[in-house]
Amino acid sequence: MMADLPDGSGHPDLDGVDVPAEAGDGVLIDRLGRPLRDLRISVTDRCNFRCRYCMPREVFGPDFAFLPRTEILAFEEIERLARLFAVRGVRKFRLTGGEPTLRADLPVLIRMLKAIPGSEVAMTTNGTLLKSQAPALAAAGLDRVTVSLDSLDDATFRAMNDMDFPVALVLEGIEAATAAGLGPVKINAVVRRGVNDHTTLELARHFRGTPHTLRFIEFMDVGNSNGWKMDEVLPAADLARAIDAEWPLEPVDPAYLGEVAQRYRYRDGAGEVGFITSVTQPFCGTCTRARLSAEGSVYTCLFASDGVDLRGALRRGDTDGAIGALIDATWRAREDRYSELRTAGTAGLKKVEMSYIGG
Ligand code: GTP
Ligand code: 5AD
Ligand code: SF4
Ligand code: SF4
Repeated sequence: MMADLPDGSGHPDLDGVDVPAEAGDGVLIDRLGRPLRDLRISVTDRCNFRCRYCMPREVFGPDFAFLPRTEILAFEEIERLARLFAVRGVRKFRLTGGEPTLRADLPVLIRMLKAIPGSEVAMTTNGTLLKSQAPALAAAGLDRVTVSLDSLDDATFRAMNDMDFPVALVLEGIEAATAAGLGPVKINAVVRRGVNDHTTLELARHFRGTPHTLRFIEFMDVGNSNGWKMDEVLPAADLARAIDAEWPLEPVDPAYLGEVAQRYRYRDGAGEVGFITSVTQPFCGTCTRARLSAEGSVYTCLFASDGVDLRGALRRGDTDGAIGALIDATWRAREDRYSELRTAGTAGLKKVEMSYIGG
């Protein structure tokens, strides 16, 4: 029997985190004492999938108004903001979308971000374009990738992405990323009860014994279009118990403070599996992430209704000092902890869409 099912104990509080001293006129901390560490950068709001839980085609159909090119930040604009965030303590940049590999010339941006001293650049992708792009992404300096893959059952996967994309294409993408040196890869699987929960053990079996780490994500009430219901959330503790019964698990300490996944290792040495328990065991207390939308607004929570427009400041010619002050003020005012406050009532609030803010 597993010593410790996911119960939140794997998520320590932020006591003892070394907060960057170089952050402007003091340490940049939000109202709940959380430093700014990660910036997730959405490079496009488009995707070649229509996952039912993210971009249902009834909403994101042929008439959906995606952002026009001129409204999307240019690479130079992203780089300038990234440098301002880096000065304030951000070390990890994660490229997201929509689907980030749909953005033309992504390796150019990766080179620019990697030129920021001490930066780490990762990407979350659906993997479909990695077969062709992995070598160029790796050559540009991308450190690692996370690939979303919700099921290995082809019919289930095709229905979930609602574009009839086969599983094989994503597995080839994972192989290509590994061959290019972008591995070990993290695999994200969103679990929706009644949709793909019957295929979770198969996923675990497949990635056991590989260097890759599978992480199961509880289905979240992001945005307002995915028809989220609590009944469809399979608590990670239930899933962990099922996996543990098959292949005994033991907890692993977080790789860094604020890591979103609770980590477990297979006692037989076959690697690790993780659980992202945003619904049943929220981790807002250690949330150090800011999110930049493709059109240049910064959001301090995945579930925020509104962002702060940085593109306006960039394009009207504000100085680094002025834009930096806006970032400082935004982070200092931050008191988001949506997942800790979530109720049936909050689920219906106006929220930004996952495909717009990149998860
Ligand atoms: P690494 O630990 O560096 O691999 O990054 P990560 O785990 O933060 O990145 P990833 O994009 O793989 O995050 C996994 C998933 O966890 C996201 O896609 C979201 O579904 C969820 N997630 C990440 N950050 C947050 C967060 O701040 N709040 C909530 N509620 N969910 C999050
Ligand atoms: N709940 C949980 N995870 C989600 N993702 C997208 N929408 C949701 C949701 N409603 C995941 C994707 C991807 C990451 C960016 O977020 O599958 O792995
Ligand atoms: Fe699916 Fe990711 Fe595309 Fe959303 S952004 S539709 S989760 S592949
Ligand atoms: Fe961070 Fe908001 Fe997620 Fe809480 S709900 S972990 S504050 S992004």
